[in-house]
Amino acid sequence: MSIIFTKIELKNLVSKKKQEGNTVGFVPTMGALHEGHASLISLALEKHPYVVVSIFVNPTQFNNAQDLEKYPRALEKDAQFLSNFKDRVIIYAPSPQEVYGTNISSTSYNFGNLENVMEGEHRPGHFDGVGTVLNLLFRQVLPDEAFFGEKDFQQLQIVRKLVQLEKLSLKITGCPIHRQENGLAMSSRNARLTEKQLAIAPFIYKSLQIAKKHFETKSALQLKKIVTTAFANEEGLELEYFEIANIKNLSPLSRKRKNQKYRAFIAAYAGEIRLIDNIALN
Ligand code: PAF
Repeated sequence: MSIIFTKIELKNLVSKKKQEGNTVGFVPTMGALHEGHASLISLALEKHPYVVVSIFVNPTQFNNAQDLEKYPRALEKDAQFLSNFKDRVIIYAPSPQEVYGTNISSTSYNFGNLENVMEGEHRPGHFDGVGTVLNLLFRQVLPDEAFFGEKDFQQLQIVRKLVQLEKLSLKITGCPIHRQENGLAMSSRNARLTEKQLAIAPFIYKSLQIAKKHFETKSALQLKKIVTTAFANEEGLELEYFEIANIKNLSPLSRKRKNQKYRAFIAAYAGEIRLIDNIALN
């Protein structure tokens, strides 16, 4: 399977496929591919004859230099992983200069409330970095539709907003969270967990399930207390936040409203490794 490193080469290939009457899907990734990515790619391939998978560890979305440095990188292994999909998957693995040119920095976006809560609050500048790279990648790949996992649910809503702000003409599709049998959400960061951490990390999903179970009968405050206390008693995991939010604007829940949909969100540390997950509550 060939890997494309330049935007010119990519543009030529994608426009050839489109001239031949094909639509093109896009799955942006930062590599260290796993079954969660494979499920996104499979969904994309159900709808499009060709799917571009970008593998690019985006420097502008890391607010922590160590996190960027330690982010797993495995291009050869990733290409091997994607070889199952044969030539319907086009790998785009550009350098930072190829994506950004000489100015590797973020545009400052106004994503409204979406950027002030949860990941936005705890990772300053993160969503400007995500918005910047996706705006560049969307313009380089020119896909008909892009696919994002709901594990990064806030990111998914940010991307929808980005498409509005930048007046881009592609469809954004959210895809269900892919989990291990024990409930742990698939993530590239899981590759950094020790055996011991891997054994305790499913507690994150268990806590989300507890919140879901009690959602109808308990208030947001009560649920927060239940989850916070459970984490305080769980050695090896440190809760950064537990939040219940309206899925549209991600405003934290104060009073449940009829006809509104809510999700519960968690960010927690297993040692140095930051994990996130979420669940639909109603
Ligand atoms: O979710 C990710 O892996 C990244 O945030 C993305 C969407 C590839 C942008 O760098």
